[in-house]
Amino acid sequence: MSDGRRGPPGPELPRIVGDMMAFVGLGEAELDAVRRSAPVVLRHEAALTAAVYEHLLSFPESARFFVLEDGAPDLPRIERRKASLGRWLRDTATAVMDAERAYSLLAMGISHSHRTWGLGGQVPAELMVGSMSLVQAALTRILHAELPTPAEALEASIAWNKLLLVHLNVILMGYFLPPPSPRT
Ligand code: HEM
Repeated sequence: MSDGRRGPPGPELPRIVGDMMAFVGLGEAELDAVRRSAPVVLRHEAALTAAVYEHLLSFPESARFFVLEDGAPDLPRIERRKASLGRWLRDTATAVMDAERAYSLLAMGISHSHRTWGLGGQVPAELMVGSMSLVQAALTRILHAELPTPAEALEASIAWNKLLLVHLNVILMGYFLPPPSPRT
């Protein structure tokens, strides 16, 4: 597992992700549970992304990323962001955790933590954690409502939660990286 050093993980990242998956017990059975429930989850993709963004827009600390200079919602940007969240959800639902996925999650972390966006600046880590919690809660409700038995919903929910927290961990690794050195 990562030893907590704050340097770029480089070629070690896929191994670190593999260790994380082993630690939380995210194996083939859990990845299969995610894949099996994917069609049900993705039927609700639009409602899920809309609910997450409605929530983000209802708190000033997250809404400031999605407003124009005059404070009005930046609707095209909000639609783009919902589409990005939907794309991430579809990729996640494939339950593929290869090197390409690991580096794309790290890049996602870096883009939220190291770039500045409109009036918002950099996205605080706690909003990433909070958003993942919103997604987890929404997924659990969907699985509970849609899967044939509560036992299947429970197993699928456990598997999704493990996968989402491994994603979150890689995203947060981007936050631990040092800021880019100033141009000379
Ligand atoms: C579950 C958590 C989240 C996921 C999976 C996610 C996913 C993404 C993806 C895939 C992109 C586009 C690709 C990239 O630049 O990396 C993106 C861009 C962005 N996200 Fe997130 N995001 C999350 C949470 C948040 C939160 C909490 C905020 C702010 C409150 C936020 C603000 C932004 C902004 C400002 C951009 C780029 C802006 C633009 O192009 O207009 N994201 N996000």
